[in-house]
Amino acid sequence: MSTEISLTRTHAPKARPDDASLSFGKVFTDHMFLMDYEEGRGWHDPRVVPYGSFTMDPATSVLHYGQAVFDGLKAFRGPDGKIRLFRAERHARRLNKSCAALCIPEMDADLVRRSFEAIVGVDHEWVPSAPGTSLYIRPTVIATEVMLGVHPAHRYTYFVICSPVGSYYKEGVKPVRILATDKYVRAVAGGLGEAKTAANYAASLAAQRDAERQGYTQVLWLDAIERKAIDEVGTMNIMMQIGDEVITPPLAGTILDGVTRNSILQLLRDWGVKVSERRITIDEVMEAGRNGTLREMWGTGTAAVVSPVGELGYKGEKIVISNGQTGALTQKLYDAIVGIQYGRTNDAHGWTTEV
Ligand code: COI
Repeated sequence: MSTEISLTRTHAPKARPDDASLSFGKVFTDHMFLMDYEEGRGWHDPRVVPYGSFTMDPATSVLHYGQAVFDGLKAFRGPDGKIRLFRAERHARRLNKSCAALCIPEMDADLVRRSFEAIVGVDHEWVPSAPGTSLYIRPTVIATEVMLGVHPAHRYTYFVICSPVGSYYKEGVKPVRILATDKYVRAVAGGLGEAKTAANYAASLAAQRDAERQGYTQVLWLDAIERKAIDEVGTMNIMMQIGDEVITPPLAGTILDGVTRNSILQLLRDWGVKVSERRITIDEVMEAGRNGTLREMWGTGTAAVVSPVGELGYKGEKIVISNGQTGALTQKLYDAIVGIQYGRTNDAHGWTTEV
């Protein structure tokens, strides 16, 4: 198999938006990366081509059974003008782990990493430069076999599209209100919770809609069995500081192995903060809220980086956290990650790669 990535440039480049007008995932760049899989031939024909639509037979299996995985990472333009990818290799490995969970043939992880570099290299002018902006990269694999039988497909397409995005919140870091629910669940151990797959996001929509109707921004997911242990918040990992301990739920099969989660745990350990990856129940958190030991809470994810929680609702009770403001540790973590991403501070762990 040739791993040479071919390039066909567009003859019709689009107008690029102003950095100031960018929101999240609404505008796409001039090119996309494609690669195909067929049983017997393996993954083949890696290529960068003009961005465009797919034509699909209505019986294409992904449209029926959701055999689809994706990931999300970002490229940042620093004040020095250089473009850096954040933890590209880890995202490539996680995409392959998601493939394995959905019976999708794994790709060469190095080629996946090179696919990110290739598309960002070709569309480098689309990487915005205003503070808080970046190029969001969305690698995705879908089953493209035309069949209605329920079994792993024999054909797949890997594609990578890119979108220049603004800061997730206009003001930078802004506290959100979250609602813990025991009515809906997101995932159960032995299921798909640790894979980044379309089904998990479809499963979140009804709960998210209900939370929004009650005036909350995100759902705090509880475990599917006892409906007590905290899992995730919205599409992010969750962390909290109770007393001097930072607690985050363990990677036990129901939550995503977040790249921002991993980076933040590393920074906290570097700084000598006590960190526990352990089971924590909503009752424990509410009690810490009542007795004043719950100091800060925040979500972590690629899109928002760090999202402070200012209020937590559960069974009609409301707990205000950090007076509804961004806590000092939350802000320090946000600043540290963003500093590394834009190349402003020392990248001690070698997380960024220049394109
Ligand atoms: C993230 O980066 O936090 C996400 O997973 C959100 C993405 C699905 C838009």
